[in-house]
Amino acid sequence: MDIATKSIRSLPNGKTLDDLIMRETREVSLAVMNDEELYQWELENLFGMGWNLLGHESEIPDANDYVVRPMGEDLVIVARDRQGQIHVSLNVCPHRGMRVALGEEGNAPAHKCIYHGWAFRPNGDFIGAPVEKEQMHGGLCSKAELGLKKARIELYGGLIFATWNHDGPSFEEYLGDAKFYFDMLWKRTDNGLEVLGAPQKVSIDCNWKCSGEQSGGDGFHTLSLHRWLIEAGLFRSDGDDPTDLAPAMYGINVSANGHNARCIPIEGTFDIAKKMDASKMSLEDRLYKLAPPGIHKELVPQLQKHLSQEQIELLVKSPPQVGGIFPNLNFLFVYAPQPDGEVLGAMAIHIIVPKGPHRSEFWTWMFTEKDTPEETKEKMLRNAVQQVGTSGLIEQDDTDTWPHISLASRGYKGRKDMTLKYQAILGESKPEGWPGGGKVFAGFSKDDTQWEWWEAYYAAMNKTYD
Ligand code: FES
Ligand SMILES: [Fe+2]
Repeated sequence: MDIATKSIRSLPNGKTLDDLIMRETREVSLAVMNDEELYQWELENLFGMGWNLLGHESEIPDANDYVVRPMGEDLVIVARDRQGQIHVSLNVCPHRGMRVALGEEGNAPAHKCIYHGWAFRPNGDFIGAPVEKEQMHGGLCSKAELGLKKARIELYGGLIFATWNHDGPSFEEYLGDAKFYFDMLWKRTDNGLEVLGAPQKVSIDCNWKCSGEQSGGDGFHTLSLHRWLIEAGLFRSDGDDPTDLAPAMYGINVSANGHNARCIPIEGTFDIAKKMDASKMSLEDRLYKLAPPGIHKELVPQLQKHLSQEQIELLVKSPPQVGGIFPNLNFLFVYAPQPDGEVLGAMAIHIIVPKGPHRSEFWTWMFTEKDTPEETKEKMLRNAVQQVGTSGLIEQDDTDTWPHISLASRGYKGRKDMTLKYQAILGESKPEGWPGGGKVFAGFSKDDTQWEWWEAYYAAMNKTYD
């Protein structure tokens, strides 16, 4: 990123991106959490023209299944057609703007608008209006022109991503060097992932970026906000004061295109791994006795088919346990030791959906590999809900802070003079033999990857579209 880049857009109050994101000093004006115009600009540049997670294909397994999902503040219909293809269409009737699919999910061979009865196929094509002989759609536009607006879609490990930008980078290009790390989590078995139930949603009074910038890789808050994780023994501590020496704070933080992954040695995070002397175990042993989060031992042979040796080694020794996809997705792959000694994984993806400058919706999907035994799926779901569900122990902590930050940005003095600071810097340093790409920051988790999130924000916002 060339720090000399100048903002090509400004807000009606005359402020430019350079006034709000001070790249020389690594500060961001608190006003970014409050500004209505900036918010509208984000809806276009980030949520309109960027890639958005809408769900997982296992949520709509059969022909004509659909779910209604947010893409920024637009609602879209995510539907599977009779050939098995998935389509994403704007849930707005081209006739007079009514919402077409009223529910949140269902199965329908045609989506009929309740207002005047125009009907659309699962792929968004216009079927017709009632009283065909009267041609109630008029003669000015052809039927082909009267379909629902169609988004561009890509599936990644079954995750459904979509954008209105039909000419921009592909999703894989968008991931860039982050793909090496993310493939270990979502593209590693023959039959892939499936969701464990419907997504959980909770409404929060905060600007979406309060959560977004945290998903840029804020490891540091674990020590204070999630201190109980260490006090309760879920994470290791080597000191009398739990915040003194938490080995889980040391790892490899990776950033690419604003996405990030925190690769943390498992014996640093979990007592169970230390007790088992994991660092002395063979790769084979580790794979079976301390299987990576979400991998049941029966699935271990499949890892070999889908991942490189380098990826497998990283996955068992220092997996990406937490990370994000820019701008609003956060993932967690947490080891979950069971009372009987078995080690399961809690797997979750969150997105934060914008609902105005001071309101957001926090979504959570829980995942398992499709071929995990049913009984294990049950345990994994319970575990994921307890830890990372919206009422889970971890996420309740985070959602305590965001409304306060949003509120602070509304005050005159707060938005005028206060800044968010990202000045604790490790700097790039790639350990010898490190197999992955991207910007690599080794050591105590500092502000590096979160600042990269803001650099990605600057780059994505500093564009104009027609
Ligand atoms: S608004 Fe949908 S048919 Fe008229
Ligand atoms: Fe957190």
